[in-house]
Formats: sequence, structure tokens, C-alpha cells
Amino acid sequence: MQNLLVTGGAGFIGSNFVHYMLEKYPAYRIVVYDVLTYAGRMENLALAQGNPQLSFVRGDICDIDAVRAAVDTYQIDTIINFAAETHVDRSILAPDAVVRTNVNGTWALLEVARERQLERFHQISTDEVYGAIPAPQRSTEGDPLEPRSPYSASKAGAEHLVYAYFITYGLPVTMTRGSNNIGPFHYPEKAVPLFTTNAIDDIPLPIYGDGLQMRDYQFVLDHCEGIDLVLHKGALGETYNVGTGVETANIDMAHKILRILGKPESLLQHVTDRAGHDRRYALDCSKLRALGWSSRHSFDQALERTVRWYVEHEGWWRPIKSGEYLEYYKQQYGAR
Ligand code: NAD
Ligand code: DAU
Repeated sequence: MQNLLVTGGAGFIGSNFVHYMLEKYPAYRIVVYDVLTYAGRMENLALAQGNPQLSFVRGDICDIDAVRAAVDTYQIDTIINFAAETHVDRSILAPDAVVRTNVNGTWALLEVARERQLERFHQISTDEVYGAIPAPQRSTEGDPLEPRSPYSASKAGAEHLVYAYFITYGLPVTMTRGSNNIGPFHYPEKAVPLFTTNAIDDIPLPIYGDGLQMRDYQFVLDHCEGIDLVLHKGALGETYNVGTGVETANIDMAHKILRILGKPESLLQHVTDRAGHDRRYALDCSKLRALGWSSRHSFDQALERTVRWYVEHEGWWRPIKSGEYLEYYKQQYGAR
């Protein structure tokens, strides 16, 4: 494992992973392969600009010829697939995009990995593939996949393809299923960066329904460490959950953001719920812990660090909250 193709490496988790890997493995060459949708931003990689370990290819994972060319040009031996349409609300408004990128795109990457006999294909998946989990149950890796949104169904479809390539063609694959990430470079359509940037500007925080949905919010670098561990120590054909195992209600998360920023609770605004909203996700992460991983940040530490980053990086998020973003915001929240 020396030449890594990191698809979606200009997005939130992908860019954090690239920075983490560049620092930890100076001998690795990393090629970011990203089409730069609204969520993919070159600014996310600016800290690594000029680093000779890093190259960038603008390309679509659905374009199999372009993927092949990148793999051949850079003598890639490992693909780590972060590229995806990732927002559940957008997947409800326009489900075609998640099927195209998350299912067809993953297939194109797998096909090139098979043709070129790569050493490893790692798929970044999500706890949402298990569906809504009633308390006190926790999802373990062998549980059935019962996705309930277009986004989670497309991610489950991608997982099935990855596993099929392992069984049918012997492609050396691994997968991780992460819980909700928070941290730097998180596009402000997702709840934590949306609530934080709205609160900074005294704009209401739109809480879906009663706000009692439970999520396991983990710091993005803890997730990156888990992926790194699975890449280097995970068993082929295996899947690993990555999360803190601690759940928080959205309304409590929103209260904490307001408290950190010193903003009033009157900014909380309950709005119409998300269609088909999964009430709770909860992971059992003992399989990954057995490899030696543990989460370094508590929820409070992760949230504090995240909110501070947004306070200190207005120059990153203010330009995003214009143009296409405002169009989306109106469509998503206008009638709520
Ligand atoms: P993101 O939306 O911030 O970034 C996605 C990246 O993929 C962007 O850079 C975008 O330009 C790129 N991309 C999209 N379509 C592409 C295509 N067709 N070809 C090439 N590049 C394309 O997403 P994220 O939050 O960083 O999520 C990364 C991965 O992690 C996704 O696979 C997601 O399903 C998974 N995941 C996310 C979370 C989370 O909390 N954010 C949790 C678990 C798993
Ligand atoms: O669980 C992992 C998943 O986490 C990833 O696979 C997805 O890519 C990622 O987007 C995230 O999905 P969620 O739907 O959980 O994240 P989001 O930030 O959109 O919402 C978090 C919770 O907050 C969820 O219960 C919905 C709620 N919410 C969200 C928004 C955008 C609100 O109450 N109001 C909002 O405006």
C-alpha cells in the first residue's frame, strides 16, 4: 500500500483523511480524485498545497475511462472510496443523484480495481445502512441492512456490490460504517455546521420534529484513525463499525451549540420533520476496538472543537452560504 486514490478527497471527511494520512505516512503518494460537486472544495486541501506527496485529478467516479486513466497514470495500488452524494435531505428532493454516484460510481471503481488487480478497495459506508434502531439495541456488523432513505439505500446497494466483488472475483476489500462525523470543512447543510453558522448570525436553528432523534456524533479525526486501522490491520472481506457508542438527542446538541456561542434558546425553531426520519442509530464498535482503536474525543470535546473552528474560519463558510446554497435552503426550509 503506497499509492492511494482517495475519491471524494476534496469533501469533508475525505479532506480530513488526506491531511491525516499525509502527516502520518510520508512515504505514501496520495491522489485525490474528485469531481468537485457543491460539497467538494479545493480550499479543503489548501493546507497541503505544494506537498509533493499529493496530486489532484478532477474526475467523476462514474466515468470508468477517467478512473482507469488515473489508476494507470499514478500506479495506484489502493482505492479508498469517500466519493458520494451524502446529504439525506437532498436525496429525498432528488434521489437520482444518489443512485448514480453512490451505486453506479462505486461499481465503476470496483470494476477498475478488479481489472488492475489492486491490492485493496476500501469502501466508506455509514451506520444509516442498518436503518432505525430501537433502544437499547446496538447494530453489529452482521445485522441485516434495512436502509430507509434514498441515501442510505444507495449506500447499502454500494456495500452489496463491494461484497459481491470480494466473493465473486476475490477482490481484496474492506469496509467501514461510520456514525455522524463533525469537525472542520463540514459543508453547512448538515445539522452541526448549519446550526453553528446560523447561531453565529442569529438565524433560527431548524429542529426537525421534536428534536429527540438520536445520533452518535464523532470527531472526524477519530473516524479517520479508525479507517487507517482497518486499512492496515483489518481482515479482507470484513466490515467495521466506527463510532463513539454514545448517543445524543439533536435538541441537546443544538442547546450545547447555543451555550458554547452564548446565544439565546429563542433561536431554536421546531419545523416539519424529515420524511421517513430515522429516529435512532446506535453502533456496537467492539470489533474495531478489538483491533486497538478507541475514540479520542468525547461528544462535548468534539462539539467544542468543531464550533470553535467555525468561529475562527468564517472565511471558509461565509462564501459557501450564497448562490446555490441559498437556493437549496429556500427549497428545503422555505415551506417548513
Ligand atoms: P461530502 O459531501 O462532504 O463530500 C463528498 C465528496 O465526494 C465531495 O468532495 C464531492 O465533490 C465528491 N463527489 C461526489 N460525487 C462525485 C462523483 N460522482 N465523482 C467524484 N467525486 C464525487 O461527504 P462526507 O460527509 O465527507 O462523506 C464522505 C463519505 O463518508 C461518503 O461516502 C459518506 O457516505 C460517508 N459517511 C459520511 C458520514 C458523515 O457524517 N458525514 C458518516 C458516515 C459515512
Ligand atoms: O449517520 C451517518 C450519516 O450522518 C452519514 O452517512 C450522512 O452522509 C451524513 O449526512 C449524516 O446524516 P444525518 O442525516 O444523520 O445528518 P444531518 O446532519 O443531515 O442530520 C443530523 C440530525 O439532525 C438528523 O437527525 C436530522 C437532524 N436535522 C438535520 C438538519 C439538516 C435537523 O433537525 N435539522 C436540520 O436542519
